[in-house]
Amino acid sequence: MRLLGSMKVEDNKLSIGGVDVATLAKEYGTPLYIIDQEELEDKCRLFKENFSHPDLRGEVAYASKAFLTVGMAQLINKEGLSIDVVSGGELYTVHKAGFPMDRVYFHGNNKTLEELELAIRLKCGNIIIDNRHEAKILGELLEKHDYKMNVFLRVNPGISAETHDYIKTTTDDSKFGESIFQEDIYQILRDIKVQDYMNFKGLHCHIGSQIFEEESFLRAVDEMLYFYQLVKNELDIEFESINLGGGFGVYYAEGDRPIDLGPFLQRMIDYIYQGSRRRELTIRHVLIEPGRSIISNAGSTLYTVGGTKETYSGKKYIFIDGGMSDNPRPALYQAKYEAIIANKAEEAPDTLYTVAGKLCESGDVLIEDIKLPRAEAGDLLLISSTGAYTFSMFSNYNRVLRPAVALVKGGSPRLMVRRQTYEDLVSLDEELI
Ligand SMILES: Cc1ncc(COP(=O)(O)O)c(C=O)c1O
Repeated sequence: MRLLGSMKVEDNKLSIGGVDVATLAKEYGTPLYIIDQEELEDKCRLFKENFSHPDLRGEVAYASKAFLTVGMAQLINKEGLSIDVVSGGELYTVHKAGFPMDRVYFHGNNKTLEELELAIRLKCGNIIIDNRHEAKILGELLEKHDYKMNVFLRVNPGISAETHDYIKTTTDDSKFGESIFQEDIYQILRDIKVQDYMNFKGLHCHIGSQIFEEESFLRAVDEMLYFYQLVKNELDIEFESINLGGGFGVYYAEGDRPIDLGPFLQRMIDYIYQGSRRRELTIRHVLIEPGRSIISNAGSTLYTVGGTKETYSGKKYIFIDGGMSDNPRPALYQAKYEAIIANKAEEAPDTLYTVAGKLCESGDVLIEDIKLPRAEAGDLLLISSTGAYTFSMFSNYNRVLRPAVALVKGGSPRLMVRRQTYEDLVSLDEELI
């Protein structure tokens, strides 16, 4: 397994943030999500420092769907990033964290009336409108509450990036946004522009996730700027801002080749600046919304091995005390991961295993075919790069308990989220007799 962030191997043991993971297992139990604070902070700084330009305001909004807790929102705020949310629950979490509401961007293809009312009540600064229907109901609500809000419209520029079908978001039949190619697109824009309670800042697009080609992002910039020019000519509307979403790919396993983000972010923002000058546009503010690329490498999941099994056909399993409930990505997207036996970190990986969870599903396999040292009950297995879309996609399937989340830095651990208890699990259930 590639060591990420502050991971170190010494005396056959793996540590993260200066803490032996065996100590974390003792303190907080397993399964356990571990967040490497230094790695998280480094990524925030990488984005903030490089997505900047002397003549354009660059803003980085962390896509909190990747991983969100009250503490996470506070760390993101401390690093000076903005935040994007996609539900009432995420919005409420950042509010509870004391996140400045003018730096919150509220997304979603089907925000409910209650969620829109909540956004107004909490004084959320920015809404990314998904479609014409939402534009209409939001306009009515803003007027009713006499509240003016910054808005963006999510558009679909029809870019097809190389990634898994389920995480592509701008194909022509995507459920997100309004296509820039549809006949009445100008009418939709005009209808938003004339709303008294909306400050129409610009357009948004997000071309997909886990993308490794720089060209896909630059093509999206080209398409969006071209469309800005058409809008300017057709409607005489000049937008101040542009939001290009997230999607930067990360390292999970061998074969993944993430973009070198530092130089690329500088290139990307300058590309936007030059393109907008060439087209005589007045864009002054550019946003991006990275999620996975901020938190994925900072997170890992630690499990205890319950035992091993060799099947009649010769397949060797390692059974762990979690599985698709704490990480549904392998089942959903055939996602690949690397792992290490943390208490045998320097031993030769000489046995081919499949890592299977404890859930009642044959598909509950986190890693197919990985070479590890010979495993036995009581070993600690750590899967790396699980910071994004794992905790946030957790399910209580089989009524298993949600693991705790521990934050580590400089040799000391802190709890970010406590482990669920069986009492938590039944606390919302009503007795019927
Ligand atoms: C609108 C929007 N912005 C940002 C993101 C974050 O993407 P990623 O985590 O790949 O950076 C997503 C992910 O689905 C999204 O839909």
